[in-house]
Amino acid sequence: MSVIEPAELRKALGRFATGVTVITTVDAEGRKYGVTANSYNSVSLDPPLILWSLARTAGSMRAFAACETFAVHILGAHQEDLAKRFAVRGDDKFAGIVTREGLGGAPLFDDCLAHLECRVENRFEGGDHVIFLGRVISFEACDHDPLLFHLGRFARVGADGPARQEPA
Ligand SMILES: Cc1cc2nc3c(=O)[nH]c(=O)nc-3n(C[C@H](O)[C@H](O)[C@H](O)COP(=O)(O)O)c2cc1C
Repeated sequence: MSVIEPAELRKALGRFATGVTVITTVDAEGRKYGVTANSYNSVSLDPPLILWSLARTAGSMRAFAACETFAVHILGAHQEDLAKRFAVRGDDKFAGIVTREGLGGAPLFDDCLAHLECRVENRFEGGDHVIFLGRVISFEACDHDPLLFHLGRFARVGADGPARQEPA
């Protein structure tokens, strides 16, 4: 039987290109939390369900483990800085960022590709992660090129990306 080497598995998994989201919530004291996540995926249209997973070691785990609602922001190519900001542990991730209050107080950013306001439908054990199943209560979408993540790097398609670049 082959032994799974975590670093090699991580490299293999990273070959799967994804979009990028920032997922936000708020705790009982009104403190905001947000985390960059590419584990997001759609699950079901009827009922409207999505999922994502969060590392047990994440600083925001306590808040997400207790929350009743969260908001998923699907990021555009113009939001790489936002993705980087929420991909690090820190207390002041929201400093200087304007947010609106969404479902259950979950902070909402403007100008994303889409945001989905969700109620927690279920949480599942997922090894060193917890899997969150969310029911979409409301959403908004608009037209932007997407921000992508592939092989450990941010990437783009569309007008901003290599696919449509003119030859030099
Ligand atoms: C593109 C990208 C995708 C990520 N996806 C996830 C994810 O799906 N789940 C997760 O737990 N961490 C993910 N991370 C790492 C978290 O964003 C990072 O651990 C962050 O510090 C978590 O914030 P927190 O410690 O404040 O909770 C991702 C990072 C990047 C750059």
